[in-house]
Amino acid sequence: MISPLKKELLFPRAVIQARVKELAAQISMDYSDREPVFVGVLNGAVFFFADLVREMAIPLKIDFISAASYGSGMSSSGSVKLTKDLKVPIEDKDIILVEDIVDTGLTVTKVLKMLRERGPVSIKICALIDKLERRNMDIVIDYCGFQVKGGFLIGYGLDYNEQYRYLPDIYTIKIIEEPQGGGSE
Ligand code: IMP
Repeated sequence: MISPLKKELLFPRAVIQARVKELAAQISMDYSDREPVFVGVLNGAVFFFADLVREMAIPLKIDFISAASYGSGMSSSGSVKLTKDLKVPIEDKDIILVEDIVDTGLTVTKVLKMLRERGPVSIKICALIDKLERRNMDIVIDYCGFQVKGGFLIGYGLDYNEQYRYLPDIYTIKIIEEPQGGGSE
């Protein structure tokens, strides 16, 4: 059974789009003489990725990987599994790794390690949300959309149990625990 959900608007779509444009302008400037490969981490980065690359002012290539780190709900499984690999070779390329949200940092650390083994010239991280509270890895996020302290976010690609990704705005959620039913009071 799905628990009732209380959601609060955090980043409206206009705010997200404005920030995405700023990020794209910054990356376009930094890579003005290069043709980077944007690597999106599915599924969460899908809308951010699509909006970001379409705001870019330089030529680029795109590809996707899928790295599952969360079993379900809000808690991490602690391990990262690659469920879809890249199609394009990234040796001697400049890579922009596009993530939806960096939480503990486990996923992005594992993905970075895997990509580095393939001999790219450089890898920079672009994350829409940098969630600071539970970070336990030493990571530099080169291009960051928004920093948040904590909480659980949904919408604009972010899910809770694979729901709510389609919402155009970003919300924080609270799960309202149902009182245990079926008793004989
Ligand atoms: P990390 O490995 O702990 O950094 O977790 C990264 C992944 O966990 C993200 O790519 C998301 O799939 C998921 N995640 C972490 N926090 C949230 C959240 O607030 N909402 C939705 N997904 C989240």
